[in-house]
Amino acid sequence: MSETTFTPRVFSGIQPTGNLHLGNYLGAMKRFVDMQNADFETVYCMVDLHAITAWQDPKDLMKSTRELCAGFIAAGIDPEKSILINQSQVPEHAQLGWIFNCVARMGWMQRMTQFKDKAGKNAQNASLGLFAYPALMAADILIYHATHVPVGEDQKQHLELTRDIATKFNHDYGVDFFPITEPVIEGAATRVMSFRDGSKKMSKSDPSDASRINMTDDADTIAKKIRKAKTDPEGLPSEAEGLEERPEARNLVNIYAALNDQSVDQVLADMGGKQFSEFKPMLAELAVSKLAPISTEMARLMDNQDEIDRILARGSQRAREITAPILRKTYDIVGMVPPVQL
Ligand code: AMP
Ligand code: TRP
Repeated sequence: MSETTFTPRVFSGIQPTGNLHLGNYLGAMKRFVDMQNADFETVYCMVDLHAITAWQDPKDLMKSTRELCAGFIAAGIDPEKSILINQSQVPEHAQLGWIFNCVARMGWMQRMTQFKDKAGKNAQNASLGLFAYPALMAADILIYHATHVPVGEDQKQHLELTRDIATKFNHDYGVDFFPITEPVIEGAATRVMSFRDGSKKMSKSDPSDASRINMTDDADTIAKKIRKAKTDPEGLPSEAEGLEERPEARNLVNIYAALNDQSVDQVLADMGGKQFSEFKPMLAELAVSKLAPISTEMARLMDNQDEIDRILARGSQRAREITAPILRKTYDIVGMVPPVQL
């Protein structure tokens, strides 16, 4: 167990691979804003190095990175309060990532379900980067000595691996250097499901656009997608038990609760007995009222690319004040000869 007390610090990242959606907003971004406004030092990252574990067209990657930065700001991340960066501008992430490639074990990596899902049937043809990805993710977090990581449910296994890597490093080198990070997976929408299939998570890569609400969708599109979302013929129950075995109904209630900062029980106490024909327009109105201002602001910021690029440059400057000393200390622990003054 760690004896050192680490300053509370939050880190999280999102891949700039297009199609930011409601799951990203509720499972991640909205929570990032909550934590920024609590008493934490917060660092949020567009993980462009992670994005290229699968092929990205270079022009699209640049556009998506800036769009994601615009999304963070539009959702309420204040670049003065939080440190906002793209991963590749802070080289210490990749440098610590290498050290962690040498700490993590093949057997640990082979258990990662996200690799299995993403590599699919043709794992032999997946990039080595996709396999090593969770070690880089651990480095993203630990290069800041971050203590708390807000994420959606799907990242839980990667955060357990991050703890394993920190523990093994500390043990192998006889130090108490890296914190054992806490995952923060909370709220009503840690796993937003597809609108077409309540057993699949809402995802950027789903070929069906109707399966998700994109953060750039306009009000009409949002309302239409909710109207068409798959449901069952029953009405809403008055208590959460009534949502068991009803994944589509549960998903819409979870989304309503998360958007309205309520618990599922509170929503059902108000809405129990309503039919979906009545509930869906209410959900649509709520979703539009929360999301439309974000997409409008994103569009405004995207017209102002220089401002975005300056925010990222400033973010990386601030980030490196934290990451450079932690990398140097890591190198010292591992036994890398430091540069002397010439
Ligand atoms: P990604 O888009 O995979 O880079 O995910 C960025 C963040 O959004 C991570 O914290 C994910 O856990 C979260 N996230 C992605 N999809 C969902 C979803 N369907 N429901 C809740 N959170 C999600
Ligand atoms: N793996 C995360 C995802 O796919 C993105 C990510 C990369 C991340 N590095 C991180 C999340 C560090 C939290 C902390 O969604």
